[in-house]
Amino acid sequence: MLNYSETWELCSNIDAICTEFLALFNLNQSRQSKTSMQQSPHIRVYLIIKQTELMATVLVINGPNLNLLGMREPNHYGATSLADIEARLNTLTAEEGHELLWFQSNAEHELIQRIQLALEDAVDFIIINPAAYTHTSIALRDAFSAVKIPFIEVHLSNIHARETFRHHSYLADIAVGQICGLGALGYELALTAAFDHIDNTFTD
Ligand code: DQA
Repeated sequence: MLNYSETWELCSNIDAICTEFLALFNLNQSRQSKTSMQQSPHIRVYLIIKQTELMATVLVINGPNLNLLGMREPNHYGATSLADIEARLNTLTAEEGHELLWFQSNAEHELIQRIQLALEDAVDFIIINPAAYTHTSIALRDAFSAVKIPFIEVHLSNIHARETFRHHSYLADIAVGQICGLGALGYELALTAAFDHIDNTFTD
């Protein structure tokens, strides 16, 4: 993470960086070089922005049965589908100039693998609804402890007002926070909190 003065210096140089980059790209293009064929200007601008930490990457992970949102027990989970939640959060993220990645799986090991991969993707923050694995998975907890990426736990329903086996979470005490009982809005609130957390880490 860059400190304040390094960031300021990079921001003041951003015009020069872009001009240099465009010149390089035009040169490569005129030579029909391999680099210009393989890397679009968009990808390279993305890499520059990502390297300067101006763009944050947030990963949203959804656990088992959440692919059925919208038709699954609407009395607990509401009528909004996962695709609708994705569309809403994608819009909010684009407005902020950040990047949002999505993953859903019904398999515990795939969720763990995605959390581990988040290190390679330089993910800054994770929002997770671990669904039923919330109440059973020490392995998911260990994955978060290993990667040390800050995360928020989200539940559509109020797990504390339901069966007692849903009251305990293996993740809550190592999470930045837990949001539950607010339906699909919980994901939006988690996203706002994630950006806030990233901004605060950035200016510390
Ligand atoms: C849930 C609550 C869990 O107890 C349950 O197993 C789910 C969904 C929620 O979003 O309210 O699958 O995580």
